[in-house]
Amino acid sequence: MGIGRLSDGLAPTPPMGWNSWNRFGIQINERLVLETAEAMVESGMRDAGYRYVVIDDGWMAPERDRNGDFVADPAKFPRGIAALAERVHALGLRFGIYTDAGTRTCQGLPASLGYEFRDARRFAEWGVDYVKVDWCHTDGLSPRACYAKWAMAIHAARRPIVLSICEWGRARPWEWAGTLGHLWRTCWDIQPEWSSVTAILDRQADLHAYSGPDHWNDPDMLEVGNGLSDGEDRAHFALWAMLAAPLMAGNDLRQMSDDVRRVLTANEIVAIDQDARGMQARRIRREEDTEVWVRGLAGTRAIAVALLNRGSEDRELSAGLDEVGFAATDVVRVRDLWLRSDIGARRREIVSTVPSHSAAVLRVTAY
Ligand code: GLA
Repeated sequence: MGIGRLSDGLAPTPPMGWNSWNRFGIQINERLVLETAEAMVESGMRDAGYRYVVIDDGWMAPERDRNGDFVADPAKFPRGIAALAERVHALGLRFGIYTDAGTRTCQGLPASLGYEFRDARRFAEWGVDYVKVDWCHTDGLSPRACYAKWAMAIHAARRPIVLSICEWGRARPWEWAGTLGHLWRTCWDIQPEWSSVTAILDRQADLHAYSGPDHWNDPDMLEVGNGLSDGEDRAHFALWAMLAAPLMAGNDLRQMSDDVRRVLTANEIVAIDQDARGMQARRIRREEDTEVWVRGLAGTRAIAVALLNRGSEDRELSAGLDEVGFAATDVVRVRDLWLRSDIGARRREIVSTVPSHSAAVLRVTAY
């Protein structure tokens, strides 16, 4: 494995999908996964770009088998993981799974320390396309060495598998994980609360230089649909898209409201996340309750601007064209991506009224 970023083409844009953890914890089973995969298709999420259906902690039986192989919990997954992956694949989706780099998972189940090659081989045999490797019960271990071993194990298993590094940002993974995996957590676990979303957001502001095609900062999975207000869901989703974050839905796809579905399938916001240039947004202005985030997009002189209102009152927010990278005298074209409507030509500044705890996203192009 050479020095430099991964460039195997497995995650040219941030991975999108669903993960069981945020909403279901360890209460997962075969039926939930299949119904979720079906809902992903029926809701339009697959067409919007969501691909990976990932089971998190809690899928494994309490002990490995006599050969040392992982076994799925027979009560939760009676037909086994390979059969499940096959059914997920048949829906045009990909299948992901979870393990932990240490001696036990965060829920105390068997983990992979010393079994990396065996487990990667088994995952490959099962048809796994994505592996999240967590960091509980790793006392004294070097994250860099452990994840390097995982990268080698996956390579040896000879199946294209996305590696999701879940070390919570403790050992500055943005400085080393890009050579080993496709995404790495930058922070502690998200909660379905506004204060958690904004605290995580603050942690991402200095990390924009580290992210790009095949190596993404991961500010954790989505809490859209898990109890935030509609405006908060929009702000959370919009800012994760600005950050070029992996978009892993974490709600119950089988019974989401139309509002939640509209957020998750907002094509023009998803397009920002998935922009081919893969440039994570920078926060260019921060006042007490308001922020301006900007990211460059593929194409000539195109950018996305997010105007975030963290305060408790609706606000008219603006950004000067010279602040976001144009000349003040330029004439630009502005489109509101939540409203899916062209605002028209603007000079000097762009303006939007943003509800409390919400964010507008504007696409700005030079004429
Ligand atoms: C850690 C991870 C979470 C989730 C749980 C499972 O807390 O950060 O994303 O995987 O473990 O136990």
